[in-house]
Amino acid sequence: MCGIVGYIGKKQACDILLEGLKRLEYRGYDSAGVAVIRDNELIVEKSKGRITTLENKISDKLQSATTGIAHTRWATHGEPNEANAHPHTDHTGKIALVHNGIIENFASLRKYLESQNIEFTSETDSEVLAKLIGHFYKEGNLEQAVRDALSEVQGTYGIAVICSDCPDKIVAARKGSPLIVGIGNDEFIVASDASAIIEHTNQVIYLSDGEMVTVNAEGFRTTTLDDVPVTKDIQQLEWKLEEIELDGFEHFMLKEIFEQPQSLRTCMRGRINTREGAIHLGGIANYTRELARAHRFIFTACGTAWHAGLIGEYLFEELARLPAETEYSSEFRYRNPIIEDGSVICAISQSGETADTLAALREAKEKGALAIGIVNTVGSTIARETDAGIYLHVGPEIGVASTKAFTGQIAVLAMLGAYLGRRRHLSQHNFEQFISALEKIPDQIEEVLNLSNTIRQIAGDLFECEHWLYLGRGYNYPVALEGALKIKEISYVHAEGMPAAEMKHGPIALVNPGMPAVFIATHSSQYDKILGNIEEVKARGGKVVAVITKGDSQLAKKCDYIFEVPQTPEPLEPLLTVVPLQLLAYHVAVLRGCNIDKPRNLAKSVTVE
Ligand code: G6P
Repeated sequence: MCGIVGYIGKKQACDILLEGLKRLEYRGYDSAGVAVIRDNELIVEKSKGRITTLENKISDKLQSATTGIAHTRWATHGEPNEANAHPHTDHTGKIALVHNGIIENFASLRKYLESQNIEFTSETDSEVLAKLIGHFYKEGNLEQAVRDALSEVQGTYGIAVICSDCPDKIVAARKGSPLIVGIGNDEFIVASDASAIIEHTNQVIYLSDGEMVTVNAEGFRTTTLDDVPVTKDIQQLEWKLEEIELDGFEHFMLKEIFEQPQSLRTCMRGRINTREGAIHLGGIANYTRELARAHRFIFTACGTAWHAGLIGEYLFEELARLPAETEYSSEFRYRNPIIEDGSVICAISQSGETADTLAALREAKEKGALAIGIVNTVGSTIARETDAGIYLHVGPEIGVASTKAFTGQIAVLAMLGAYLGRRRHLSQHNFEQFISALEKIPDQIEEVLNLSNTIRQIAGDLFECEHWLYLGRGYNYPVALEGALKIKEISYVHAEGMPAAEMKHGPIALVNPGMPAVFIATHSSQYDKILGNIEEVKARGGKVVAVITKGDSQLAKKCDYIFEVPQTPEPLEPLLTVVPLQLLAYHVAVLRGCNIDKPRNLAKSVTVE
């Protein structure tokens, strides 16, 4: 989604802004722009397409400026073109604004401003806000104009505003779209995402909804939108610069697939103690009793995180005998859901900023549910709005197609399920067996990663296929959904994931000679049943690709291609079976010449509805 960077300090703003925009590229965008103030003049440059196109347009004129704002736009209102790109300016050409979010009442505001003879040059909702600030602006008081304008708008925003009358100032505000201020030595960086800040400083403040900040050479001042001062704690960013670099890999997605053994070790470190036979989860320790006595768990999430939630549902029912359900956040929020006493809402989100998940969380909280977060990004909105939570600690995920966050989410759900299970029905013996198997997973993933070259060769045979089926049962049904999503996201082929038994109820009509059907067919409780499904595909000439348990030579003979994974208890299998599917999607996408880390039309973090 859209990205914001603002800089004020002693260095050349333009270089820092462009570097910041590049760090935000992974979020997804289709145009970009920058505005700086030089010699009390506002200069704006914008372009459609990649940041390198914008970079080529930057003239010397912009170079010596030390204050500026920049933006990557992911089109919502109006097509991706130069006119619609941010920054937008007011009617005097003194004020420039970058905006993330959606101004819902933009049409009526635009009509009013047009009646005041203010002309518009774009189709965006954001330009309305820029023009409105200009409309309210009285010499020298940018903050008041921003306050006045924001009091008129409905919708969501993260904004950064500059004005050529006050060249050493950036005003920023947020409601529903994240904004962070990095505090460096004699410099400030305002950004929508920590990755644009980390190169310069690890000291930050997170703005909350309804807050505004002014940064200038003297420091920063945070207030509410009504100008009541707010004291903010300076916090330390957890991530390191190396973590957001490619480190010799060709793509972030591949790097992150290969990071999984290590990211899971970090996720479990200090939490699983096999010697003591215990799990420690500091983030929920104060709520253990409420959670163990809960009547119902509702997992809410979008995309890949929703698939993790489905696995969580199975884990919670089996390990803790706790009723659990998984809801698409976008559906749950508008359904007037029933929340009885003893309900726990558990939001699962890599970014911690997904608009629908946040709204679903708020809806359930409002109705009295205890709110838990399973989130990767420390300090994110969901993390801050939940009563308690467990961070993934898998490090920043830059690849748009989620990989290590997915396995981190499953690992956290497995730890939480076992932790609550032990406080309900799970015997110490079974609990200990489970956690020692969980602890072995990172080493077992290392083994699976060795298949990468074989998977590349298989991808060589199949990459031209346009239709794929992914089938699994039980714990591996959500893995089938995730495998299909991965290949869709980055290869743009049509893939359907489903419970294997459902194939007979319609999708089997699609199977024709040569169509790949990817089965997750480990030696689990439903093994015999899935063998039957494999036969059905073979009988119709489909190509069977199967993830099987290592050493299952009988099944290996029936399949066209196999990926062997080591043995682990069934509830933990998704942590292993998903890895070859991530690699398959990756290699197919590379062979199809797709842009792996910036897939078309997708955004890493969907911060609007
Ligand atoms: C976007 C991303 C997906 C992700 C989903 C939920 O659609 O492209 O990869 O799974 O959002 O994101 P979250 O940050 O809430 O996990």
